Amino acid sequence: MNKTVVVLGTQWGDEGKGKIVDLLTEKADAVVRYQGGHNAGHTLIIGDEKTVLHLIPSGILRDGVKCYIGNGVVIEPGALIKEINQLEASGVDVQSRLFISKAAPVIMPYHITLDQLREKAKGKDAIGTTGRGIGPAYEDKVARRGIRIGDLLDPALLKEKLTQVLAYHNFVIEHYHNSEPLAFEDVYQKALEQADFIRGMCSDVTGQLHQQLDQGDQLLMEGAQGTLLDIDHGTYPFVTSSNTTSGSAASGSGLGATHIDYVLGITKAYTTRVGGGPFPTELFDEDGAELAKRGVEFGATTGRARRCGWLDLVALKRAVQVNGVTGLCVTKLDVLDTFETIKVCTSYGQEAFPGAACEFEKIQPEYQSLPGWQSSTRGITDAASLPAQAQALLDVIEQYTGAPVHMVSTGPDRCENIIIKDPMA
Ligand code: IMP
Repeated sequence: MNKTVVVLGTQWGDEGKGKIVDLLTEKADAVVRYQGGHNAGHTLIIGDEKTVLHLIPSGILRDGVKCYIGNGVVIEPGALIKEINQLEASGVDVQSRLFISKAAPVIMPYHITLDQLREKAKGKDAIGTTGRGIGPAYEDKVARRGIRIGDLLDPALLKEKLTQVLAYHNFVIEHYHNSEPLAFEDVYQKALEQADFIRGMCSDVTGQLHQQLDQGDQLLMEGAQGTLLDIDHGTYPFVTSSNTTSGSAASGSGLGATHIDYVLGITKAYTTRVGGGPFPTELFDEDGAELAKRGVEFGATTGRARRCGWLDLVALKRAVQVNGVTGLCVTKLDVLDTFETIKVCTSYGQEAFPGAACEFEKIQPEYQSLPGWQSSTRGITDAASLPAQAQALLDVIEQYTGAPVHMVSTGPDRCENIIIKDPMA
């Protein structure tokens, strides 16, 4: 049995991780978020009900499964409390099964202010962030001036830390951005209220995870965003501010690298991206519009329309390598049902993989065309029932990337999947 399974995105996020995590959680004892914050939007569709989660692990909809938010996640307490209240209002028991790392950095109101002011100041060069304060919160963590969840729980310590850090950020807000500084008392009082709400859920998550491993439990590590948004390996600077690749599952939770038994890389059968930055296979024609329409490509967090394009095998192969992917899960295969011809990018027209956005802009993508199947694959649950052309697409993905396809998602519902090899087995 694979004791620790990592599920992560191999593209620019929005690969359908939430649905797959929810599905695999049937067998898991715990689900762990280890990076990112409420910039993520994980959509789960169960029957007629749609739930969008931003911070709380996608395991929360399965009774009895423990959910952890690890030290690598940046937490906006207001967003977390709102999500807890919404889930509890619809009958989900959250507070007895959610554990929040005391070592996790807090996204404070000035981080959100700074994120939005900076994006505005950048104008047409904006990164297109989600405006949630993610980048500034990670900056404070690395600068060793950040407030952590544990600090929130100690009013005197919080007062001391906040006094210093707020003075620092207010200086920038006021004198660099010419904007209104934040009032200490407002920020402090709000933080104390939020701390009281979450106090009972805060714990030593790393210790608890090791305890679960010691008793033979199975852990599911839920990644957010995708490999090409990784701060080191993505299309820098058009990236998020965390490592979205598999190493984060260890550093962002306190597991060791050797505890990870299996990495499931999720890829759509095509590609999407929200926000600015390079996107080699982006389509501006009818095919792009068809992908957007059939795939309902709008951001779960910001509602922004996603840019759409063909599957980029060059980038996918790199993602397989940097994550050490054990098996791939191809999602939204059914979105391609209507296409006469399907293309996949097999070369960038140059040897080396681009290291940064400016190099990505120079590449000349080359494509392989495959015949479409032009029939419905929606809801198919066994590989043998797939049209030969769809199987051929999966074969090309396997051959090019060197990673086996272990799962295929054929629709948004929990039961619309083909499981070739179960990552949890
Ligand atoms: P930030 O994470 O809000 O700083 O945004 C940085 C970049 O990551 C922007 O291009 C966002 O659109 C993108 N991003 C952040 N979170 C997600 C996500 O969950 N899905 C897709 N893109 C994301």
